[in-house]
Amino acid sequence: MTVYLHSLLRNTLCPLFMLLPLLSLPATAQQKTLDYNGEVDDAGHAEGYRDFVENGCWQCHGFQGQGMAGPSLAPNPLPYEAFSALVRKPANVMPAFSPNVLSEEKLKRIHQYLQSIPKTADPDAIPLLSTKK
Ligand code: HEC
Repeated sequence: MTVYLHSLLRNTLCPLFMLLPLLSLPATAQQKTLDYNGEVDDAGHAEGYRDFVENGCWQCHGFQGQGMAGPSLAPNPLPYEAFSALVRKPANVMPAFSPNVLSEEKLKRIHQYLQSIPKTADPDAIPLLSTKK
């Protein structure tokens, strides 16, 4: 009986348990985006963040606009006029986003999201990092 139970556990249940992480994979991936969204979006700029992600801005500018292949966009994004001019007609290698692809409304929301990203603390305000004695 014990032997039977043991082999039942090993042969039937274990493979099932091994499959569990696979079953939850898509849900986990989705959850991550939502969690991340919540983290950066306390100020209620979830829609702007979604537009930023859906239009692929994050691929070159990072999820928080911190910069990657493209320059950093936040904190302190350019004023909206300059910002939108550079999205509609980028300076060099960035693909242009026309109003047909990315509406004015969405671009404004993206700008609001970037504006909501808090500035980093002044290192001198953190005793361990301070250069002032
Ligand atoms: C394929 C990579 C890529 C994607 C996708 C991309 N950018 Fe860029 N972006 C760049 C690069 C590179 C630059 C630097 C200028 C250039 O080379 O065109 C730039 C420049 C900018 C600038 C000007 C920044 C400055 O300080 O001069 C803004 C604003 C900007 N991007 C916003 C956006 C937004 C908003 C999106 C999404 C709708 C986006 N970008 C998508 C690569 C990208």
